[in-house]
Amino acid sequence: MKNFWINTYGCQTNGHESDRLSHMLKSLGLVDATSAEESDVLIFQTCSIRNTAAQKILTHISQAKKLRRKSGRKQIICVIGCLSAEEKKYKEFDGVDIVLGSNQLETLVEMLCGEKPDTRFGTGYSIIIQHGCENFCSYCIVPYVRGKEYSRPVDEIVKELEEIKSTDKVIYLLGQNVNSYKCPTTGTDFVGLLDRLCGLEGDFVLNFMSSHPKDFDRRVVDSIFRNKKIERNIHLPMQSGCDKILSAMNRGYTVKDYLEKIEMLRKTVPDVRITTDIICGFPDETPEDFLKTVEVFKLIKFNSAFIFPYSRRTGTVADKMDNQIDDKEKRKRTTMLLEIQRGLV
Ligand code: SAH
Ligand code: SF4
Ligand code: F3S
Repeated sequence: MKNFWINTYGCQTNGHESDRLSHMLKSLGLVDATSAEESDVLIFQTCSIRNTAAQKILTHISQAKKLRRKSGRKQIICVIGCLSAEEKKYKEFDGVDIVLGSNQLETLVEMLCGEKPDTRFGTGYSIIIQHGCENFCSYCIVPYVRGKEYSRPVDEIVKELEEIKSTDKVIYLLGQNVNSYKCPTTGTDFVGLLDRLCGLEGDFVLNFMSSHPKDFDRRVVDSIFRNKKIERNIHLPMQSGCDKILSAMNRGYTVKDYLEKIEMLRKTVPDVRITTDIICGFPDETPEDFLKTVEVFKLIKFNSAFIFPYSRRTGTVADKMDNQIDDKEKRKRTTMLLEIQRGLV
């Protein structure tokens, strides 16, 4: 076993996890393969957020198994990440050699290489500060596949940062809802954590994601202002600019609340870059509701935006809602918003 290939799907968290995995494997002597087909180890870092994405990944896994059978090559196929939490559901997982959930990168490396990985690597290091999510936004599958929200103890995070801060200068603190971080042993909250980490010696910088507008408050903004080690990039998913839809999404804030938070952030930290996520065509979103999103979107002028057509996820509340919007209309709204964004930046 000499080389490996990682296919990554889904969110930024997955991107970071794949980077970490790649560095760990390299620390044990493996190298990048020239292609997925020719790799000794083929890893799928999966996502279950949208149905189309999940289907695409399952097709790719089936294709990889078929290719392996045809060529007669010895290849280890591994599936990790969000989709593997639903393992029992998919026949495509039959014949896959290793299936592991999220946050099991070290286990995977140990299974493959027989020794513990060196978790240090070059630039950009992600520290998971919180697992799971229990916000139950009505469209989202994460609370079902990743379980209850659980914050890692502050001392563990401090120790991890102390170990890597001389080699890794750009640090990402990751969680589905980082603002509600709370240390299970000391009770330290997110602002306490930021202050503690920024107080460590060194020329590293910190980023964090994702923030949830309902918990993103004055104290977090002040902490960004006073801690120069925090990079001025804030990802604050808005999802919709219509109160009726935000309420049906169970997001816990109104458009007015959201706008006030953006204003407070821009006033306090004028050089901030703000990015967002928007979902188009949530159930019962009328053309008028969507135009409200368009208006707010134009008003805020985000530096960048991830715009998704709403995708039905089995088991979620929104999946059972009436007035589902048809795919063509969802795509039309998504394209329209993407074009507006292109014109704005
Ligand atoms: N916990 C973060 C990120 C969640 S997943 C947050 O609450 O912001 C990242 C993005 O995927 C979400 O912000 C949302 O815009 C999008 N997303 C999640 N479920 C979706 C679905 N069923 N259909 C379309 N987009 C979805
Ligand atoms: Fe999903 Fe909402 Fe949790 Fe984000 S906060 S992971 S969108 S349930
Ligand atoms: Fe990310 Fe997809 Fe999981 S968006 S949190 S990899 S479901």
